[in-house]
Amino acid sequence: MTNILCIGAGYVGGSTMPVIASHCPEHRVVVVDINEERIAAWQSDQLPIYEPGLDEIVRQTRGKNLFFSTDVNGNIAEADIIFVSVNTPTKTFGRGAGRAADLQYWEKTARQILENSTTSKIVVEKSTLPVRTAEAMERILNSNGNGLHFDVLSNPEFLAEGTAIRDMQNPNRVLVGGRETESGQRAIQALVEIYAQWVPRDRIITTNLWSSELSKLVANAFLAQRISSINAISALCEKTEADISEVAHAIGLDDRIGRYFLRASIGFGGSCFKKDILNLVYLCEHYGLPEVARYWEQVVKMNEYQEARFVSNMVAAMFNTIAGKRIALFGAAFKANTNDTRESPALEVCRGLLEERADVVITDPHAMENARVYLGELANRVTFESDPYSAANHAHAIAILTEWSQYTQLDYERIYSSMVKPAFIFDGRNLLDHKKLYEIGFNVHPIGKPPLTRLVTPEFKHA
Ligand code: UDX
Ligand code: UDX
Repeated sequence: MTNILCIGAGYVGGSTMPVIASHCPEHRVVVVDINEERIAAWQSDQLPIYEPGLDEIVRQTRGKNLFFSTDVNGNIAEADIIFVSVNTPTKTFGRGAGRAADLQYWEKTARQILENSTTSKIVVEKSTLPVRTAEAMERILNSNGNGLHFDVLSNPEFLAEGTAIRDMQNPNRVLVGGRETESGQRAIQALVEIYAQWVPRDRIITTNLWSSELSKLVANAFLAQRISSINAISALCEKTEADISEVAHAIGLDDRIGRYFLRASIGFGGSCFKKDILNLVYLCEHYGLPEVARYWEQVVKMNEYQEARFVSNMVAAMFNTIAGKRIALFGAAFKANTNDTRESPALEVCRGLLEERADVVITDPHAMENARVYLGELANRVTFESDPYSAANHAHAIAILTEWSQYTQLDYERIYSSMVKPAFIFDGRNLLDHKKLYEIGFNVHPIGKPPLTRLVTPEFKHA
């Protein structure tokens, strides 16, 4: 039996460890966190994160070979392999503020591992970290003078929220980076054996430590770059009557480009993309590569532009004033099927509308609580309404900000009849049937497509 420990019971630790536990019944998996409330939630029927398939897998494994605990020190002592998935946010102070990763939790955790260890261990970086972090970790961990040896591995997480369990069950690839020393190679094999319980061997790739650390940043930078690229073109489509969905389809059929991740939107959000690109930008600057830094930085700038552009388009379409107008935001989560609102473009749009003094109503099937917390003081200026019909009642406009499938099933005739006319829909995810909405009577403003606008609303025409 191997004692597997994960430090950090967030989205990453909390969704990966139950899958490991379910495929490795002979191993004991413990997830610890300093946050008592979070651990209590993991031990309850109301898990702290919403992720399709997670409840079931936790129910099957919890109490058998999966345990949640706040006893970080005690569990470190017993562990053979320690995954570290504590948060590594963007630094808000000092050198590299706004760009570099804040590694204080990571370093603190490394020291805590050292202080509580009486046997040698494998320490796995699961959190996204700047390249060469493992070197610092190795130095801290192996500065013990008590004969213990720590192998540091990099095993970046590629799963996406909303499909985390599916991604973990059936990954495109698992990446394990380690040292080329004998002990480093042994450590790599130990981790490979765990994944090999359910992942085909040819999808488990091993590299040196630095390639592995860098690959995580680069994977996210490339994915985000595709979104910024298609969003940049969506702005051009809106000027030229080209249709972004048709353009995306036409280019995506080229195998070299591929059809995934070409959905124009209000912008990308989530805890990783922005943070990881800024981290990459900082690394490039640190290594004296300002041109490379500027190139990647533009991906984040384009994203901010897209969010701001969406708000500007709303204001312009609604006669250049939205002050005091009720606007219903459908969706607060940064994408569908998650309750996560970190860096959510929906909430950036919300901020923009509040600046214009709109009367904002937010509805979302799972992310209302997180939205409230994330908005902080601004939440006092927003109405939260769990029922989308109530949210739209007496509204001048609806903005679709998260692509929840529920929103495609609503009765838009009923919604239209309850709204102030002329009624607007701004579809920030190109989710709905625009022609149908237009026929109902809405003024429809998609992303990257010509708007379907009416000079006269149907009621008035027939009156
Ligand atoms: C986090 C990072 O955001 C991401 O960069 C990294 O790749 C993996 O870890 P996530 O799991 O989504 O992703 O973060 P979060 O939900 O904030 O969870 C981190 C957890 O670590 C929190 O529950 C926090 O309480 C815990 N933590 C933090 C510790 O247990 N100890 C610490 O010292 C610091
Ligand atoms: C991402 C990476 O996909 C994952 O591999 C990594 O481990 C963590 O970061 P995540 O942030 O959970 O995952 O979600 P993802 O599906 O990548 O979406 C990120 C953002 O991009 C969302 O706001 C989403 O709505 C947006 N997006 C995605 C688009 O706007 N258009 C697209 O075509 C795809």
